[in-house]
Amino acid sequence: MGSSCCKKKCSLNSVTKKQIMGITGLLLCGFLLTHLAGNLLIFVGPEAFNKYSHALISNKAIYIAEAILAAIFLSHIGLAIKLTMENKAARPEGYYMRKHSGRGSTFASSTMPYTGMIGFVFLVLHILGIKFGAYYEATYDGVVIRDVYRTTIELFQNPANIAFYVLAVVALGIHVSHGFWSAFQSLGFNHPKYMPKIKLVSKLFGLLVAVGFGALPIVCYFLGAK
Ligand code: HEM
Repeated sequence: MGSSCCKKKCSLNSVTKKQIMGITGLLLCGFLLTHLAGNLLIFVGPEAFNKYSHALISNKAIYIAEAILAAIFLSHIGLAIKLTMENKAARPEGYYMRKHSGRGSTFASSTMPYTGMIGFVFLVLHILGIKFGAYYEATYDGVVIRDVYRTTIELFQNPANIAFYVLAVVALGIHVSHGFWSAFQSLGFNHPKYMPKIKLVSKLFGLLVAVGFGALPIVCYFLGAK
């Protein structure tokens, strides 16, 4: 086994890892968009939100969808940790410091590992707090379903939960404001004509995630206080 062969194999692997991170990252952006759209039903009222949630969780395909979503999340996070560790080992000043220090570096690009970690901790606590949180029931047209609206509204009657959610989704917004366009770059799409537009869409998407998800806990607080 020659060392040049190992070097070639390792560098190919790291390109593939970045490509997989790009694809999984873009899929997660798609999930965020649909999740935000679904959550907007909170504004419509308990019945609309609970029926939407029930339609999702009562569909047998949800188990397949959840398994795919979990695999996407885990491979994105796992590869991020692996790439960061590999690059740290190769260059002690660190991958993000090296890639994003100096010209072209932004706050979003240099904090990717940290905002990603905040997103992960948020996700675990979010699923525990809502999906596996307090269970209530509501009856519509004689059918009993989960009152996830009440669970959600109750969670945000606590200002500490509101603060945690808002800070976490702002971090997530910063993460995707860089991650979205960076994914295109990792996938080899770096056209000088389109890249500035993709970077703009990326920033707007980050803003949408931060403001859209960040507004929900505050709205829920006031809906609960009514
Ligand atoms: C801040 C506002 C948010 C609210 C009010 C909210 C609300 C909810 C609700 C009500 C559910 C349960 C759905 C059900 O089981 O019927 C849920 C599940 C979930 N949420 Fe959120 N969410 C928010 C933000 C986020 C963010 C930013 C992410 C991604 C990082 C996220 C990821 C998930 C995931 C992965 C699930 C589980 C999906 C499943 O397994 O079916 N949520 N959310």
